[in-house]
Amino acid sequence: MSEIYQRVKGKVTLITGGASGLGLGIARRMAEEGAITIITDINDDKGQKAAEEICAEFMTQDVAREDRWQEITRHIYEKHGRLDVLVNNAGISGDGLGTDPETTSLAEWQKIQKINGDSVFLGCKYAIDYMRKGGGGSIINMSSIAALVATPFITSYGASKAAVRQFTMSVALHCAVTGSKVRCNSVHPGQIITPMLESLFAEAANKMNAPVDQVKQGFLDKIPLGEFGEVDDIAYMVLFLASDEAKHITGGQFVVDGGMQLNG
Ligand SMILES: NC(=O)c1ccc[n+]([C@@H]2O[C@H](COP(=O)([O-])OP(=O)(O)OC[C@H]3O[C@@H](n4cnc5c(N)ncnc54)[C@H](O)[C@@H]3O)[C@@H](O)[C@H]2O)c1
Repeated sequence: MSEIYQRVKGKVTLITGGASGLGLGIARRMAEEGAITIITDINDDKGQKAAEEICAEFMTQDVAREDRWQEITRHIYEKHGRLDVLVNNAGISGDGLGTDPETTSLAEWQKIQKINGDSVFLGCKYAIDYMRKGGGGSIINMSSIAALVATPFITSYGASKAAVRQFTMSVALHCAVTGSKVRCNSVHPGQIITPMLESLFAEAANKMNAPVDQVKQGFLDKIPLGEFGEVDDIAYMVLFLASDEAKHITGGQFVVDGGMQLNG
């Protein structure tokens, strides 16, 4: 690829949940645009294969574990001498639909807050100082449209993603006023075709005893632009926020949802 397209050339970039879906798409885009790309995932086999495919480095990680965050950020700093970009992407949607505020179990609530929320806290906590040492950096936290609207059927998930949004603002201001030159923004996908969304369709169809295509059409009807999002729609947003083109942007929320939010 020509030099002029190397928008993140040489930036040492860590992407969690990089074995599939959005994480893999983001990693591919970053690698193609010149980043030194490290992906992590709890799924070892898929992670190794994905890394080989896109010429990235792979490390096994459960993002909810504090000790592993310390090991991984230290390893990257010692090997590459810097950490420029962190994409806190790994997340789960829950065990199915029907998790309204009354039927959600405490165990499910806590599991989702742990994987979707604790992980983002830990990632920021351990990345900031290494970024500061390198003169700055960009943290991109994967939230969701679910953070911005009521989600009574995926209660725990919506709450976990709202926490990610709020925490992003605090990290952004903290980093700005302490002069670290670390930016922090959240990205809010609507409905992007990935394994997570496909399994949501299947679960909904099963629960409603309806054909998957009919369920899918119901989801599609809620998107004003009339199409599901593609992985690259999110990858290009992350690429922009990771690049120096976004050097004056911090604390922002970037919605990529085909207009879904307009319908409330
Ligand atoms: N796909 C969408 O429409 C959509 C919409 C809004 C937000 N999101 C968010 O985007 C992110 C990626 O979603 P996706 O659709 O690509 O999902 P996905 O299920 O396709 O991929 C998620 C990846 O995270 C990994 N993972 C899960 N738990 C982990 C853990 N504890 N530690 C490390 N890795 C773990 C999985 O193995 C998988 O590779 C998630 O945070 C999700 O909530 C997705």
